[in-house]
Amino acid sequence: MQFFNAIMQPNIFWRAKMNTTHTTRKVQFTETVLRDANQSLIATRLPYSKFADILPTMDKAGYYSVECWGGAVFDVCLRFLDEDPWQRLRNMRKAMPNSKLQMLLRGHNLLGYNHDPDEIVKMFVEKSVENSIDVIPIFDALNDLRNIETATKTAIKCGATVSGTLSFTQSPVHTLEAFAKQAKEMENMGVATVCVKDMAGVMTPQEAYELIGAIKSEIKLPVVLHTHCTTGMAFMTYLKAIEAGVDVIDTSSSCFSGGTSQPATETLNYALKQLGYETGLDDAVLKEVNDFFKPIRDSYIADGTLNPKMMATDTDALNYKVPGGMLSNLVSQLKAQNAMDKFEEVLIETPKVRADLGYPPLVTPMSQMVGVQATNNVLSGERYKNISKEVKAYCRGEYGTSPAPINPEVMKMALGDEKPVEGRYADTLEPVFEKTKKELEGIAKNDEDVLSYILFPQVTEKYFAARKAKEEKVVKYTITPVEE
Ligand code: CO
Repeated sequence: MQFFNAIMQPNIFWRAKMNTTHTTRKVQFTETVLRDANQSLIATRLPYSKFADILPTMDKAGYYSVECWGGAVFDVCLRFLDEDPWQRLRNMRKAMPNSKLQMLLRGHNLLGYNHDPDEIVKMFVEKSVENSIDVIPIFDALNDLRNIETATKTAIKCGATVSGTLSFTQSPVHTLEAFAKQAKEMENMGVATVCVKDMAGVMTPQEAYELIGAIKSEIKLPVVLHTHCTTGMAFMTYLKAIEAGVDVIDTSSSCFSGGTSQPATETLNYALKQLGYETGLDDAVLKEVNDFFKPIRDSYIADGTLNPKMMATDTDALNYKVPGGMLSNLVSQLKAQNAMDKFEEVLIETPKVRADLGYPPLVTPMSQMVGVQATNNVLSGERYKNISKEVKAYCRGEYGTSPAPINPEVMKMALGDEKPVEGRYADTLEPVFEKTKKELEGIAKNDEDVLSYILFPQVTEKYFAARKAKEEKVVKYTITPVEE
């Protein structure tokens, strides 16, 4: 009977046992529902008005940080949602005064695909912090640390918490030693934490255990792990990473979790607490947050924005090393060209293109470049017949140094007799801010507007026109606009 009772009460049984093996160590959570989950599952189509009401509740959850800005948020706000991203940020601060607001930054590319001059990188970081960003994971697609230096130094100077972020990938040149050495270099740059970013969700539990262990023994800083559920390994990967000493994990409120998104916040909170870890999270608040997002998720499934397939496990990524966002881009690219029958072929071509280009991690903008090139190679019927201008720029060295040398044949096809740039590409770029500000006189309302335009000129121009039309309409009918 005693034995039976023990089985019937596994919680009590295991909790007592586990507490003797673990000291209460804290594992903290970054909630991604507003940024990465939103971006990975519904192409960032969540307008501010849909989630505004839950922000005061989220503010009480006890997250380490709320990832809510950067990545594709900025572009999509202007391009599709008719929203000023800066206003969204200020609104989020007002609604979540106690939370650390986090934005993802792509080093010298900021939020776009091209390199920006040092001047713009500095100004953008300064303005982001001024408008309430607290935590900034800064990464470079190629892990070329020269590309994160300006943003990192500026953010530290402005008082932000910088997370030096390594783009995780598997390749013959991405060894434990190489990653640990880069983590050490980041520590020397003065970052507050080091983050390992597995955007493709391909990191296995064993790899996480070894990599986090290797980094932990090299540096003294807290370590963050970011992954995606794509291949179904994320929960196990986090658990092994935690065993190896990871301090912060990125998760999403459960109804926007899974598949190409992050693992579920509530699940990991529940499991880790039972294992004796302190998470700092409030279970009741987490439930309230998830209950809020459930009908929103359902409406996106109903209108087709969210394909339920995106939330399922797809082990193809283990072979193709294709991140979630990239998979959905490939699908829409092929659908648009009526070539879905070539999907498998493109997936097989993708790692070949990647090897040719010196094993860049498949993260924006590299993931798009490799994806488009692989698609071109398949659809045109001849490899590298059409080389995009982005891949040419990459071969020229405009994105930094490739992890391994680029295939010389591809280099020749891309550049002909042209020589790649020497040194840091950003050093060749002229300041543009003052000139652009002058051009936008009477249109831009502040420096933030000018920065939006510099980052995404066409999209922002369209946004300015729409904003003006809206304002004129408001004046005409003397209707007071509702504050966003
Ligand atoms: Co991600």
